[in-house]
Amino acid sequence: MLQNDLILRAARGEEVERIPVWLMRQAGRILPEYREVRAKAKNFIEFVKNPEMAAEVTIQPVDILGVDAAIIFSDILVIPEAMGLPYQMIESKGPHFEKTIQTANDIDELHISSGEELKYVTDAITLAKKGLNGRVPLIGFCGAPWTLFAYMVEGSGSKTFSKAKKFLYTHPDLSHKLLEKIALSSINYLKAQIAAGADMLQIFDSWAGVLGKEQYLEFSLKYISMICDGIGQQVPVTVFAKDAHFAIGDIAKLKCNTIGLDWTMDPQVCRTLAGNKTLQGNADPCMLYADEKTIETEAKKMIAAFGKQRYIANLGHGLYPDTDKNKVKYFVDCIRGL
Ligand code: CP3
Repeated sequence: MLQNDLILRAARGEEVERIPVWLMRQAGRILPEYREVRAKAKNFIEFVKNPEMAAEVTIQPVDILGVDAAIIFSDILVIPEAMGLPYQMIESKGPHFEKTIQTANDIDELHISSGEELKYVTDAITLAKKGLNGRVPLIGFCGAPWTLFAYMVEGSGSKTFSKAKKFLYTHPDLSHKLLEKIALSSINYLKAQIAAGADMLQIFDSWAGVLGKEQYLEFSLKYISMICDGIGQQVPVTVFAKDAHFAIGDIAKLKCNTIGLDWTMDPQVCRTLAGNKTLQGNADPCMLYADEKTIETEAKKMIAAFGKQRYIANLGHGLYPDTDKNKVKYFVDCIRGL
């Protein structure tokens, strides 16, 4: 059914004839074609909730950049909203939650999402699958419970997430209660994404690196593990825990297929820690500001370090909005040609 299933085979550890490549945050941000569609919506949230528009920008990078997978256009913050904690996306500032989680009562008031509230995402998946017509697999995603917890307690992005960390230290039992509610909601949500046609899933733990190892295992990995177990290995799963050097060996024990790495992580060291899991990553997104010769050299170095099998080429974090689309395409072409 799929004309190009390289990424699924790489994730499962099967042999590939060419290294598959896609880029975190490829849908949107850098493409003028995205901004054109985006301008038609009143705001980001309305855009995300419009399945036709979301499906359209999901497919754009496949047509324009030639990547080997599409990722559904949405956001990780749709889960807090579905649980009863709405957010706003403030232009050029980022997410903002009017109400944040501070008390036991706040947590009691949240409900576990059945996935039904997020029908606009599963509808977008259905439409994107139709539009892709088997050209490449479609990746679904969610945020890791800890990363979502961080936004829900903090109320916005933060360099340190000290309010969220304070909550872990001062209310560990309540923290577990909230994390469990988020994990259970995420299981229902990801199952709905699989039912709608997602071929592969990624869990984004963007703020893994603000925790130390012990807290990471207790408050983050436990719930990522609950999600991996809960969705039951129906499709390949990638766990991307940014800056979690200390946890690669523990992530390797999860029921996931692929481990996402950022650019500070050493490919060889991670190969040893990751056992037979597939690795994904890990070019510095800032490297794409360099000239083409440098981009090619860096792409070659990255591939030499990871090898061709059990590997999915990507960046070590999302593309920055001011990256030149031609440089991005050049990077993708380099990898496809190697
Ligand atoms: O590849 C893709 O772009 C797919 C869609 C996608 C978005 N957000 C769209 C988006 C994905 C996979 C995400 C995940 C996401 N969202 C993460 C995890 C990945 C990561 O980058 O660490 C996080 C932490 C968020 C939360 C979030 N959403 C922030 C902090 C911001 C504001 C800053 C920014 O990234 O621009 C967003 C907004 C957002 N999400 C935009 C897009 C395209 C930009 C808003 C716009 O177009 O107006």
